[in-house]
Amino acid sequence: MGRDPYWNHNVHYHRAVLAAVPHGCRTALDAGCGDGLLARKLATRAEAVTGIDRSPEMIRRARARQPANVTYVTGDYLDGTALTEDGYDFVSAVAVVHHAPFEDALAALTRLVTPGGRLVIVGLARNHTRLDWLISACGLPASRLLARLRGGKRDPDGMPLAHPPLHWGEVRAAARRLLPGCHYRRRLLWRYVVVWDKPGVVWDKPVVGWDEPRESGP
Ligand SMILES: C[S@@+](CC[C@H](N)C(=O)[O-])C[C@H]1O[C@@H](n2cnc3c(N)ncnc32)[C@H](O)[C@@H]1O
Repeated sequence: MGRDPYWNHNVHYHRAVLAAVPHGCRTALDAGCGDGLLARKLATRAEAVTGIDRSPEMIRRARARQPANVTYVTGDYLDGTALTEDGYDFVSAVAVVHHAPFEDALAALTRLVTPGGRLVIVGLARNHTRLDWLISACGLPASRLLARLRGGKRDPDGMPLAHPPLHWGEVRAAARRLLPGCHYRRRLLWRYVVVWDKPGVVWDKPVVGWDEPRESGP
């Protein structure tokens, strides 16, 4: 895998996503794949990868660089009609779930995971408590330094963006309620990472020994 063509806070957490891919993963889905950067990386870890995005412009860009084992679909992961229920050993959603009501997004994503497979969500939340603001402020120097090292921070042109409606504490509580047994961790660069294994057959998956969050909410 070569150097990323650009860097931003979502790209920064691609490594965490890739590290969670089950060994011997057959099918992977990247929901809200944007220009396909993560889908291309997943193609080195899974036999077949699907990237779905409802933005035709993003899918057009993704298809401009398409490895043989990646299929891109223009569509909505929420309605599921273009995707296979229980069909993906690994599902990722990076900076996507806040574009829809959280419960709807998680219900749709969990339906898509194969029993025994894994879901990884990298998401955004908004600040609410003083502690939230303090932690977010700690991210600033790290972000500036990393951006300098990576040639600046950039999103692909035309990338659809949205403000997160839920704050950190709400996301953490909802994730634990909707994804029993999930690992939730707030990360420094204004993202949380949730890893959830769908109950089912035992499957060889990298262990995620992430700490419980200490930094936000009740
Ligand atoms: C902020 S971008 C992130 C893109 C990519 N995951 C990344 O990390 O660079 C959010 C993407 O999700 C897509 N998206 C949002 N809701 C979606 C939905 N319900 N179905 C498919 N794509 C969706 C948007 O079109 C957009 O490309």
